Amino acid sequence: MTRLPAWGMLGAASVASAALTSQDAFRTHCSQFAHQIDIPNVKVNMAEFVPGGTNLSLPDNAASCNAPYQVVSVDVCRVAMAVSTSNSSEITLEAWFPRDYQGRFLSTGNGGLSGCIQYYDLAYTAQLGFATVGANNGHNGTSGEPFLSHPEVLEDFVYRSLHTGVVVGKELTQSFYEEGFKKSYYLGCSTGGRQGWKSIQKYPNDFDGVVAGAPAFNMIGLFSWSAHFYPILGPKGSDTYLSPAEWKVVHEEILRQCDTLDGAKDGIIEDTDLCQPILSPLICAPGAKNRTSCLSATQVHAAQQVFAPLYGLNGTLLYPRMQPGSEELAAPIMYNGQPFQYSTDWWKYVVYNDSSWQGEKWTIRDAALAMAQNPYNIQTWDGDVSPFKKAGGRVLHYHGTQDQLISSDNSKWYYARVADTMGLPPSSLDEFYRFFPISGMGHCGGGDGAYGIGQGLSTYAGTDPEDNVLMAMVRWVEDGVAPETVRGAKFANGPGSEIEYRRKHCRYPRHNVFVGPGNYTDENAWRCV
Ligand SMILES: *[C@@H]1O[C@H](CO)[C@@H](O)[C@H](O)[C@H]1NC(C)=O
Ligand SMILES: *[C@@H]1O[C@H](CO)[C@@H](O)[C@H](O)[C@H]1NC(C)=O
Ligand SMILES: *[C@@H]1O[C@H](CO)[C@@H](O)[C@H](O)[C@H]1NC(C)=O
Ligand SMILES: *[C@@H]1O[C@H](CO)[C@@H](O)[C@H](O)[C@H]1NC(C)=O
Ligand SMILES: *[C@@H]1O[C@H](CO)[C@@H](O)[C@H](O)[C@H]1NC(C)=O
Ligand SMILES: *[C@@H]1O[C@H](CO)[C@@H](O)[C@H](O)[C@H]1NC(C)=O
Ligand SMILES: *[C@@H]1O[C@H](CO)[C@@H](O)[C@H](O)[C@H]1NC(C)=O
Repeated sequence: MTRLPAWGMLGAASVASAALTSQDAFRTHCSQFAHQIDIPNVKVNMAEFVPGGTNLSLPDNAASCNAPYQVVSVDVCRVAMAVSTSNSSEITLEAWFPRDYQGRFLSTGNGGLSGCIQYYDLAYTAQLGFATVGANNGHNGTSGEPFLSHPEVLEDFVYRSLHTGVVVGKELTQSFYEEGFKKSYYLGCSTGGRQGWKSIQKYPNDFDGVVAGAPAFNMIGLFSWSAHFYPILGPKGSDTYLSPAEWKVVHEEILRQCDTLDGAKDGIIEDTDLCQPILSPLICAPGAKNRTSCLSATQVHAAQQVFAPLYGLNGTLLYPRMQPGSEELAAPIMYNGQPFQYSTDWWKYVVYNDSSWQGEKWTIRDAALAMAQNPYNIQTWDGDVSPFKKAGGRVLHYHGTQDQLISSDNSKWYYARVADTMGLPPSSLDEFYRFFPISGMGHCGGGDGAYGIGQGLSTYAGTDPEDNVLMAMVRWVEDGVAPETVRGAKFANGPGSEIEYRRKHCRYPRHNVFVGPGNYTDENAWRCV
């Protein structure tokens, strides 16, 4: 569905030559577009035509973003801008307009504490025909250092970058395409999931459909929780520390206790709520010579604490437990004998404004001050989202139940919080808010199970709405067909490889049970109960 560009709306535009192919017309339109943008606070750095198949070089992307190039599969007009958000802050914004446009606007999000335009999400959503924007969230790179003594930069990070990108992006989309756009969407995971929920809570009219994965909301609770593993497990070599190989032993014991609770021995725990592992069987027998598959009592005690919720000094729940099943994924990043970088950055650059502060010093006493500050309401924990509901918005929330960085139990807590606050049972929430725990999915992707649900390029398994959360959202918003399940692909050898099997993930609070007959690889041998 190729449409002619919006010549008429662009005052100074020249007249299209009938001799131009539509690609040439598009190209010309793109090259002239930069000069026709006149939006307050927006400075256009370039507008360039990027032909499909280009391996786009991104020399300006901060090195820590670790993304110096991006393959772009379809023809797009790429517009790069600086947009000032206050006297002392600005965002870098990109808008990608595909030639094969499907009439929809979309914004992408960010991750961690970055600072990085997610070019892979721009490429992915442009390929699906969306006019798409992505911003750098107010600073460049993955560190929290730019927040130090710059509240404006922090404000961009918490909510303003995304919203500004949406306001500017919608205006540009209206002028780039004659027909404008019919609906607006959001796709993000992790910090991007939090940004999606922030938008729902604060700007309920920005999107018709939000796909929010593994949200980093209850964010100060999350920073505290991420910080608290180091005091439990200690540095490498301490009595409480477990090596990745020892975490593998813990994982195998957890599977022994919990894998078959859903009826199938497939290495996947479908409902982690049913799994309450007891790790004492792992304590080495007295005098044991071979200690490769057992642990010291001190290690078992430490490991058991990892699966306990985190409470503040006054007894308030700050963050739920790490869900069992994620041990092997979490070992190299959460349990690696070092303080967690994002948490350290938060106390250093935001809470204490002290770049000499060290993460090793963190104790639970540090949580209360951070919670009391809650700058710009970064918590993103409001339970009343009725303005979004009233505006006709829809949200598809997903969370991998093997997530090693953000416990999916926190998403369940939020779901209950919305239900309680709004006084709505799941059957009513289903009208606009559907939550899908994704078994066997790590943080936003990866993991041992059927995690390919089309949330990005590396989890793409088709455009059928059954297999693709973004297209499921489009169908929900535009055709009123709500997703009953989210079907995931299990890749045989990593992202994009052959699909070994598919599994339909259930809408919370239902969960999957294997009923047979046949193999667990048969999607029809499972029931949501
Ligand atoms: C894109 O370019 C980079 C840098 O030259 C290269 O490393 C990468 O392999 C290229 N990717 C593809 C798919 O061609
Ligand atoms: C910042 O901008 C505001 C208007 O938004 C203006 O009133 C103020 O004087 C400016 N401050 C500085 C330091 O330029
Ligand atoms: C981020 O990087 C871009 C590209 O190098 C630069 O133009 C922009 O000024 C940087 N933004 C900030 C806030 O440093
Ligand atoms: C120790 O136990 C592990 C696993 O139980 C086994 O693979 C290994 O061969 C044993 N090592 C020795 C020296 O017996
Ligand atoms: C650090 O600075 C922020 C504003 O930039 C302020 O809100 C906060 O109270 C400061 N923290 C301390 C411990 O001084
Ligand atoms: C306990 O601490 C939390 C987080 O620091 C705070 O939000 C809450 O209000 C406190 N509750 C009481 C009863 O003091
Ligand atoms: C089920 O499928 C898996 C993966 O293809 C295979 O390894 C296993 O042997 C099958 N089990 C049965 C009982 O057929």
